[in-house]
Amino acid sequence: MTSPLTPEAITEALGTRVIGRRVICLERTASTNDRAWAEAEHRAKEGTVVFAEEQTKGRGRLGRAWHSPRGAGIWMSVLLRPDMPVDRYPLLTSVGAVAVAAAVAGSIPSMPRVRWPNDVVVGGRKIAGVLAEARDLSARRPPAVLGIGVNVNIAKGEFPRELREFSTSLSIEAGAPVNRLRFARALLVELDHLYAEVCGGDVEGFSERWRALLDLLGERVRVKTGGRWHVGRLVDIDPCEGIFLRSDAGPPHRYRVEHVEMLRPAEPRA
Ligand code: BTN
Repeated sequence: MTSPLTPEAITEALGTRVIGRRVICLERTASTNDRAWAEAEHRAKEGTVVFAEEQTKGRGRLGRAWHSPRGAGIWMSVLLRPDMPVDRYPLLTSVGAVAVAAAVAGSIPSMPRVRWPNDVVVGGRKIAGVLAEARDLSARRPPAVLGIGVNVNIAKGEFPRELREFSTSLSIEAGAPVNRLRFARALLVELDHLYAEVCGGDVEGFSERWRALLDLLGERVRVKTGGRWHVGRLVDIDPCEGIFLRSDAGPPHRYRVEHVEMLRPAEPRA
C-alpha cells in the first residue's frame, strides 16, 4: 500500500481556482459522495474535495456497488455549485470523465477513452467511473457532487472475480505501481480547468475535447435498457440528450442516460 493521502500534500502549490479549495482526507468512510453531501449541508465551500483511503459502501451508477479497496485507488468526491442551468448538469459527468482521461493519459502509455456516460476505459476495460449527483433542483443554484473512482494500484487478481474480465488499473497498464498523490493532484488540476471552461460557457470547446475521446462512436453496439438488449450503430452521442442508435432496420432511436443500463461493443473487438 502507498502512503496515505493528506490535505497538505495534495494542496501544496496546487494552483487551482475552485477545485481543492478545501481538501478532506479520511481513513475510511461509507461513500465519499455521502460525506460531500454532509459537507454541503454545512454550507461547505464549492470545490471542497473529500478523499478516502477506503469506502465501505462505495456506489456506482444505477445503485451498483463500487469496489474501493484500502489505499489502492482514488476514491474522491467534489462539492460543486455549478453556475449553469440544471438541464446542463449532465455535462458534469462528462467533465469528470474527460478530466480523468487526461490524468490517466499522463500516467500510462495507452490512450484512455470515455465510454458514455461515465466510464473511462483502457483497451475496453474500465479503469475509472464517475458518479454525478444533484439535489434540491428547484434551489437557485442547486449543489452537485461529482464522485470519481480510479483504480490505481490494483492487481488483476485483486479485483472481485465478476469484475476481473472487465476492469483494469493504472498499475496494470503502466506495468508498475503508480504514485497516487501525483495522480490526485493532476486530476484536480484537470477538473479545475474543465469545470471553469464549462461554467464559463465554452460548452462547444469542451464538447469537442469530450467527443474526441469517445469510445464506440460510429461502431456497432449493444445497449441494455429495461433489461433488454438492442443492437445497432451508435450514430451520435449528446452529453445531455443521450445516445442515438440506428438499428439495421430503422431510423435512429434516442436512449436517455437514465434508461441506459449498459453500452458495449456489439461483437468482441479483435
Ligand atoms: C460508476 O462507474 O458507476 C461510477 C463509480 C463512481 C465511484 C466513485 S468512488 C468515489 C465516489 N463515492 C462513491 O460512493 N462513488 C464515487
